[in-house]
Amino acid sequence: MAVIYRQCVFILYRMKEELIIKAKEILEANFQEGGFTIPCQGLYPFQWKWDSGFIAIGLAYYNIKNAKREIETLLNAQWENGFIPHIVFHNDSDTYFPGADFHKSELHPLASKEYRSTGMAQPPVTGFVLQKMLNIAEDKEDMLQFIDTQIDKVFENHKYFYQHRDIHNEGLVYIYHNWESGTDNSPIWDDIWKTMDPPKYSFERRDTTHVDPSQRPSKREYDYYLHIIEIAKEHNYDDAKIAELSPFLVQDPLFNAMLIKSNAALIDLYEKLGNNKEKVSQLKKWQEKSIKGFNAKLYDAELGAYVHYDLRNNKPIRFISSSSFAPLYAGIPDMERAKQMVNTMMEKFGGEDKYLCASFDPTSDRFNPKKYWRGPVWINLNWILFYGLKSYGFTKIAERVKQDSIELVEKEGFYEYFDSRKEIRKTEAGGYGGNNFSWSAALLIDLINN
Ligand code: SER
Repeated sequence: MAVIYRQCVFILYRMKEELIIKAKEILEANFQEGGFTIPCQGLYPFQWKWDSGFIAIGLAYYNIKNAKREIETLLNAQWENGFIPHIVFHNDSDTYFPGADFHKSELHPLASKEYRSTGMAQPPVTGFVLQKMLNIAEDKEDMLQFIDTQIDKVFENHKYFYQHRDIHNEGLVYIYHNWESGTDNSPIWDDIWKTMDPPKYSFERRDTTHVDPSQRPSKREYDYYLHIIEIAKEHNYDDAKIAELSPFLVQDPLFNAMLIKSNAALIDLYEKLGNNKEKVSQLKKWQEKSIKGFNAKLYDAELGAYVHYDLRNNKPIRFISSSSFAPLYAGIPDMERAKQMVNTMMEKFGGEDKYLCASFDPTSDRFNPKKYWRGPVWINLNWILFYGLKSYGFTKIAERVKQDSIELVEKEGFYEYFDSRKEIRKTEAGGYGGNNFSWSAALLIDLINN
């Protein structure tokens, strides 16, 4: 018996070793000369903000130099007002639409003069990424020195959010585009699209030449996406004008939870660095207000989860997605709420016939298990949930999220997203979108190491 047990442990160990080797190969192949990692070949040929953060975490385990470069390169593209864009167009590429010539970041007077980019943000993960890199690095002194050279840029980015995007002074920042949320075509936005009637633009999609169109947003959805950007461009990406005019203006629990988690990380890092009393005190003020505002406005007791708030139309968007549980990672709910959230998660998302955690409520008629953010499992959200659940002591469920993530990648490959339904594997593959996807590789390295 003991021999069989030892053999099983050995086989499992070898499988994990092989996964890590493959993950490193993917990250190496996707690393570019300009000092950044593309999310995957063809589909995403530039540097994306939150991808970069997750990628740096994986790199920190075995290539500190590239991990630091990843962050440095991203922060080099910061605007003079503290804004960090969601895509930095380091190179020319015609495999992606809409590119630099569509976004025209140069319209904003404070945009980077060196790098062209989009004029929208993405979840602010960089603060907690720096903290995580410090935890992983063996040479703490060296990593702290690096953090010292970058941390003020992240602080300035948080300042930008609180100064320009908290229009009601609630401690909650808005996003003005679904691409800012990271959860691009979530059913959460469907009712907002109904309030808009954009022109039918003519343009050439590139994503659907790389990926089965049934797994991507529709043409009509792209019309909405482009229309919001056209409005922002008409006003040179001016924040006040966007807040006044954008048909899409949302307080997103995932985005705000990432900001709060990063605030906490910056406080910790500044305290370790010393001599930063003013910044620490500012961060603490933001933090207190944000957590209070978040709990007062975004919790839906009837649904047992946090929800989005539509600021343009003044109403909560009462649907549950994996973003609803992200506040666990930032320590936002008290224990009683956390328990309610976990009950909701397990009831709706957690059946034994499913992998955790679908990106949208599987019991909703808007759920689509194959279509991008309308249902599939994403490794970065699972990573956020794993740490969130663990920090509240939901160890068994956290472990299931981790094992499900590893099993999905082992079975299907390092895909961008995965079908949550176990039974479909009897007849078809369940990995979708881009393959050899960088954050699936990077975060798997971290999950296996934990
Ligand atoms: N994820 C978006 C896309 O699909 C952009 O951030 O192109």
